Formats: sequence, structure tokens, C-alpha cells
Amino acid sequence: MKSRSNQHFPLLHLLIVASLLTVFCRCNAKKEQPKGFQNFTPGKQWPDTDSVHINAHGGGVLYHDNTYYWYGEHKSEHTSSAQVGVNCYSSKDLYNWKHEGVVLPVSDSVGSDIEAGCVMERPKVIYNAKTKKFVLYFHLELKGKGYSAARVGIAVSDKATGPFTYLRSLRPNAGVWPENMTEEQKSSKVTLDDFADWWTDEWMQAVNDGLFVRRDFEGGQMSRDMTLFVDDDGLAYHIFASEENLTLNIAELSYDYLSYTGRYIRIAPGGHNEAPAIFTKDGKYFMITSGCTGWDPNAARLFTAESIWGPWTQHPNPCIGPDADLTFHSQSTYILPVAGKKDAFIFMADRWTPKSPIDAPYIWLPIQFENGLPVLKWKDQWDLSIFDTTN
Ligand code: DGJ
Repeated sequence: MKSRSNQHFPLLHLLIVASLLTVFCRCNAKKEQPKGFQNFTPGKQWPDTDSVHINAHGGGVLYHDNTYYWYGEHKSEHTSSAQVGVNCYSSKDLYNWKHEGVVLPVSDSVGSDIEAGCVMERPKVIYNAKTKKFVLYFHLELKGKGYSAARVGIAVSDKATGPFTYLRSLRPNAGVWPENMTEEQKSSKVTLDDFADWWTDEWMQAVNDGLFVRRDFEGGQMSRDMTLFVDDDGLAYHIFASEENLTLNIAELSYDYLSYTGRYIRIAPGGHNEAPAIFTKDGKYFMITSGCTGWDPNAARLFTAESIWGPWTQHPNPCIGPDADLTFHSQSTYILPVAGKKDAFIFMADRWTPKSPIDAPYIWLPIQFENGLPVLKWKDQWDLSIFDTTN
């Protein structure tokens, strides 16, 4: 006689197999579910892996040891001045970012260069392969002094994720002439006092001829919006808006990237460029900048050169399509080469929201090339596979 349990065995067996199958299928289904983001959605809120909108404005990205590090300004809810410091996020895929914390905090010491309430803008980090140090530069304005200090702050760390040690701030190239100023321009006796009004044709000509370079010669050149760039030969450059935001400077950094060699040039004197972002392709240099309209967007500008030392040639606005004249309501901050993909560059920009700085969205767009020049077209959504087909 069969036991009761034996009688039920086939049914029980079936049930166990069915539940195992369900668990197996669920696990498999889970595996196939997309993990996090798999594309970019420019202009939308961009949550980090803790579901908080990324707070790294005016930023730049360093690729190091198979990881991307995004450094940017921590912005608060009601002010653009620095209340917290420089923020860092890490990512393996560029879509999903983990908050690594504040890598250079503001100081609570009264009178410190980086006292809370100062301006710490457009931080960029580069890695020095010789010293094995991570070097951070940022635009510094001293607390309570508006934008008059126009200095660069320098900090250093042993690790990409910090903490960074603040070293000093300065105005670059004190007592040194730019390489592309003539002897006549250097020795000109024309000063600002010779002009009752700014912005006249004569004044613009004087700016072109180095009016502000001479004014700031002793104390160093003004340094506001900025980026850093490491060339293929390991030499690094600080590129910044100088001369009251009228002229860009490219200045070579020392072997340890912590100071200047004194070699520098002026680009587009009187051209009113800021927000510089640079990349190289096929031995050519490409730079995208903006005009100067505060937090409001304007049309991007494009410059190219065969050598970092110029001459730099200006081309038409690289943006195409609706809102191209406003850089799609954004302002450049960095151009990011995508690791492992040929000729793949991402244009990074900020859509500033000064009433609520913390909420400012990011505009990341793929750089495409037409007739050898970069072009930017709006995309509601895109992913890195675009680089497998377009360039
Ligand atoms: C435009 C600059 O690009 C920003 O970084 C910031 O300095 C604002 N101007 C301030 O008005």
C-alpha cells in the first residue's frame, strides 16, 4: 500500500519545480533589467546613485584608472557663492554617478582665501603622472569682494577622491609678458587714465594693444573662468578669462603643474570670451567658449589652432538648430574625451538657474564633426553608441 505522502509526491514535486522555476525566472529577469541610467537626457534633473540631483556645476571630468571623476562647484539653494566647496562624483559608464563627497571644503577661518561665502568656480582636476598627484585649479573670488579679485586657487591631493590640500591663490604670470605681445605694445605708455569712457573704438584698440596686460603686469594677470588641459606630451595648460574678461590667456604650467613656467599667450584680445573648453583631435586644437553675459546664455564661439601657441582662428557658432544662438540655454564648461572610443568627445555645459543655483541642469551633448569642424546639435536623449556611427 502506498503511503499518503507517497501518494502526494508527484504533486509536491511539481510544486517545488514550479517555484524553483519562478525564482530562476525572476533572477534572470532581474539580471536583464537596466541598472540605473543608460543614456543622457540633457536639461533634465540628473540624480546620482543616492537619487539626489548631481551638484557639480561649472565642472570638469578626469579619467583615471578606468574611472571617471566629475569635479564641480557645490551650489546652494539661494546663493552662488561657495558655502560648501568642490564636490566630486565617480562613474564607470558616464551615466551613473556616485557622490564621493566634498574634496575641497570651504574654510571656516575668517580671512582665509577660501572662507565660506567666497566664490569657487569652475574647478578642474588633472593628474600629474610624474609626481603622481592630483592637481585642482579653480576660479577664486575673495569673500565680500564681488568679482574683483580674479584669482586662481590651487590645491593638491594624493587621491582622485581627495581630500585636496589648498596651497595658495594668485594672479598668473606676474612680471612676465605674453609671448604674442610686440615690443611696441609692451612699452606703450597708454594707460586707462587716458580714456574718459570705456568701449569706444580707441579704447578697444588700446585693449587689443595690451592696456590691461600692462596695468596688471606687476601683480599678475586677472584669472576668472578657467579650464585645465594636459596635452599628449604631458605638458599642462591653464586657460582662463583675463583682462576684465576681455581676453583669454593660455599659460603653460610647471613640470609639477603647481606653478607657471612664464610662457603664455593672449587669445582673441578684446573678444570677450569666457567658459573655455578645449580638446585635441588629429593634432589640431579646438576650443569652445561663450560670450560674457553673466548667468544668461549666449552664442558659443569656436576657435581652432594647429598649435596650442596659436595662431587661433575663430569660426562660426558650432551650435546648429533651434536655440543654437543661446547654446541651447547653456554655457560651456568642459569637453570630455570618452575613453576607449575614437574621436568621441562630450560637450559639457551648465544651464544656470541663479534663483536656485542648486537645481541647475547639465547639458551634455555629443560633439559631431562636419567638414572637419565640431558641431553641436540638440538631443533630448542620447547614448554613447552615437560615437560608433557618426564620426
Ligand atoms: C559667467 C561665468 O561663466 C560663471 O562661471 C560665473 O562667473 C558667472 N558669469 C557670474 O556672473
